[in-house]
Amino acid sequence: MDAKSLNHNVFEGDRLRQSVESIARDLDDDLRQAFRSTERWKDAEQTDRLASAALQRAVEGLSATGCWGSGNRGPSQWLWAIAGDWLECGALQWRARSKPRGYAGDFEMLSMIVTREICDHPLGAAFDRYFQAQAAPQAVRNRTKLVGDAIGAYVRQHPTGAIRVVSIGSGPAWDLQRACDQLSPRQRQQLHLILLDLDPAALADASSRLEPQVPGGRLQPIRENLFRLTQPERSRRYLDGADILVCTGLFDYLDDDDAAAMLSRFWQALPAGGRAWVFNFAPHNPSRAYMEWIGNWYLIYRTADQMDRLASRAGIAPHQVQIAAEPSGIDLYWHISKPAA
Ligand SMILES: C[S@@+](CC[C@H](N)C(=O)[O-])C[C@H]1O[C@@H](n2cnc3c(N)ncnc32)[C@H](O)[C@@H]1O
Repeated sequence: MDAKSLNHNVFEGDRLRQSVESIARDLDDDLRQAFRSTERWKDAEQTDRLASAALQRAVEGLSATGCWGSGNRGPSQWLWAIAGDWLECGALQWRARSKPRGYAGDFEMLSMIVTREICDHPLGAAFDRYFQAQAAPQAVRNRTKLVGDAIGAYVRQHPTGAIRVVSIGSGPAWDLQRACDQLSPRQRQQLHLILLDLDPAALADASSRLEPQVPGGRLQPIRENLFRLTQPERSRRYLDGADILVCTGLFDYLDDDDAAAMLSRFWQALPAGGRAWVFNFAPHNPSRAYMEWIGNWYLIYRTADQMDRLASRAGIAPHQVQIAAEPSGIDLYWHISKPAA
């Protein structure tokens, strides 16, 4: 989706700079006033209300510039040059922007979202609450629950035999954790969990919680660059025979060629009766301006039609795939089912 289809007015050049700087000065003024009226953030309720109103006003103004996508990376520096001292108090938005692990959606960020973490700084806590109330983090929590429940339901429907679950780009694997939490020790004995991620710290974090639930070598954390999964030998080794494949928060960073190649591998790896849940945020994500301007957090958004076309490019027949959404409707997913033999 290009910028012009999101907004009729697209500000550029000097007009864009003047507008962003004016929004930043208003934000700075609003927060200075709030600092005084809350007596240095002593009144937490008032801090929350004023900080979130100030930030919301700024985000709406930035959205109205019509400057979307990585094109606002440079202009966002004008905002941060003026209001950055305030903005960096918010642990979550500062983490997104400063990218301590190299990218915004790292496993610690995902964990903070799922566990609704809020920092201790009084203004920072107000910004964190604003962040956690956004539609996109709520969609992440929704999809975590949806996948956990889907795995739980699958295990209950298949009460005997091993069930192999592979999470691709597993991060902190809270979805698998949610599945384990709802299963009895006997049901958990059926599970064989394979976590694939490039980041060893993500694998260690997920394993520390999952290993006690799925002991005895039935949890395999594997460090792998997922782009290599498009090689037949790699995908055979890790994906083949998976009863369930889950992939959340990865396709938002893949271009169409990589996304189609990856989907095709998933499809080929699934045995008869296998299922896959693969997520991708849609362009109507209402948190987009906040994510981009404040956090420089850019996703590759896809509509349901675009996802349909990718499934067909991947060789998946229409009756074998359904495009659905988590309850908020902004994080879409391919639900792929291979017919039972
Ligand atoms: C946005 S997080 C999503 C984590 C988890 N699936 C969730 O929804 O909570 C994306 C994960 O993919 C991993 N990742 C990104 N690019 C990767 C690559 N090329 N190879 C392997 N893992 C990758 C990151 O390390 C990160 O843990």
